[in-house]
Amino acid sequence: MPRSVIKGGTVVTSTEQMLSDVLIDDEKIAALAAPDSHDWEAGADKVIDATGKYVIPGGIDVHTHMELPFGGTKAADTFETGTRAAAWGGTTTIIDFAVQAKEQNLMDGFEAWMGKADGNCAIDYGFHLIVGDVTDQSLKEMDIAFDEGVTSFKMFMAYPGVFYSTDGEIFRAMQKATENGSTIMMHAENGIAIDVLVEQALARGDTDPIYHGLTRPPILEGEATHRAIKLAELAGCPIYIVHMSATEALLELTMARDDGQNAFGETCPQYLFLSLDDLGNGYEGAKFVCSPPMRDRAEEHQEALWKGLATNDLQIVSTDHCPFCWGDHPEFGTQKQLGRDSFASIPNGLPGVENRMELIYHGGVHEGRLGLNRYVEVTSTTPAKMFGLYPQKGTIAVGSDADVVVFDPDEVHTLSAETHHMWVDYSCYEGLEITGKVETVLSRGKTIIEDGAYHGSAGDGRYLRRGTNQYLI
Ligand code: URP
Ligand code: ZN
Ligand code: ZN
Repeated sequence: MPRSVIKGGTVVTSTEQMLSDVLIDDEKIAALAAPDSHDWEAGADKVIDATGKYVIPGGIDVHTHMELPFGGTKAADTFETGTRAAAWGGTTTIIDFAVQAKEQNLMDGFEAWMGKADGNCAIDYGFHLIVGDVTDQSLKEMDIAFDEGVTSFKMFMAYPGVFYSTDGEIFRAMQKATENGSTIMMHAENGIAIDVLVEQALARGDTDPIYHGLTRPPILEGEATHRAIKLAELAGCPIYIVHMSATEALLELTMARDDGQNAFGETCPQYLFLSLDDLGNGYEGAKFVCSPPMRDRAEEHQEALWKGLATNDLQIVSTDHCPFCWGDHPEFGTQKQLGRDSFASIPNGLPGVENRMELIYHGGVHEGRLGLNRYVEVTSTTPAKMFGLYPQKGTIAVGSDADVVVFDPDEVHTLSAETHHMWVDYSCYEGLEITGKVETVLSRGKTIIEDGAYHGSAGDGRYLRRGTNQYLI
């Protein structure tokens, strides 16, 4: 069994910062000890020098969409390319969304996504299930999925005709979640009202990408968030609001949490760093089309979201990684340009799985908005607890999986599509100079990123059968 030692670094978990060496035995963390208090190096197969660096738990991104069929095309990253890019960025676990299509069984969606991921992933992975068709049968199958380790189900108040569910359907699924102990994840935007605004904009000839943002105003995210939280309160299930972008929505979540409800939320780097202005650059704005959209007066929303992360009004940063190429994709052809004549035809989604750990370190820790422990908490520990993976994942402790990142807090570098590894031909952060860089990445004890090279292989990653939400009040 290979033994590795990470020596000389500062181990950072959600609660501690300590100068400590880490002994890894095969796939697990075997021991932590003060430097020079042991003779581990003598019997080690590998020694990683982390002097002057942070040693943090591998990132857990609980919101990705590899290969998602959406908007008339398919998300460009495969499980192979997307998980490799995640590894480059210090993420060692993803939870992706399997999809139940209309008139399909829920478990067919699960089996299909298991097939796509099997043998292709560079890092460990789990699944949530998108409930796309609420029927007596799919409600029953939520129990079967639960037994397979899918303990969270996403529903949509947006995208009528695609993933949308009515309030009644949502409420029925929530009642099932209460019964079997799962968590409902909600895309909270009022899609019915949005469709009216979209139709009116197109009738006026307002077809540019910026109208994607203007027809999805924050009030409709706030309204849907309120409704989702109230339905969950009545049903009695935990509710997790995905990709939160606006103060209007955050206020609703904060109130519910202050009332003691099991209500939780995530935001994503795009809502912390980008704004409606990015959508206003003529057709190039299509690169930034996602839902909910980036916001007008973004500084106010961003400040509130950062503060929410700092105070635990918000619990997690995920990416909602769902990339579509700007130019032609070699297999799927035109992607973002599908909406040249109408913003309503632009596939919704952005690349980001590789950038999250570094962006949140830069904007959070380096720029003074988050403490170091809180950074680890929102990017790794709470994701593990929220989605039933702790303490196997999300911490550096004896017995935990040796998913570890050696992070250089001082390295300054520039984000660019020229140097990233996501299979997409643009970066939303092109030219952004940031401080803090992922240097070495171990996934279950195997060094997969080191010295600027990838040393893993497709198929290293294993399916994670998840337990229930460990973050409940
Ligand atoms: O624009 C987005 N967010 N695309 C991915 C699908 C979703 O709604 O999460
Ligand atoms: Zn969504
Ligand atoms: Zn998503």
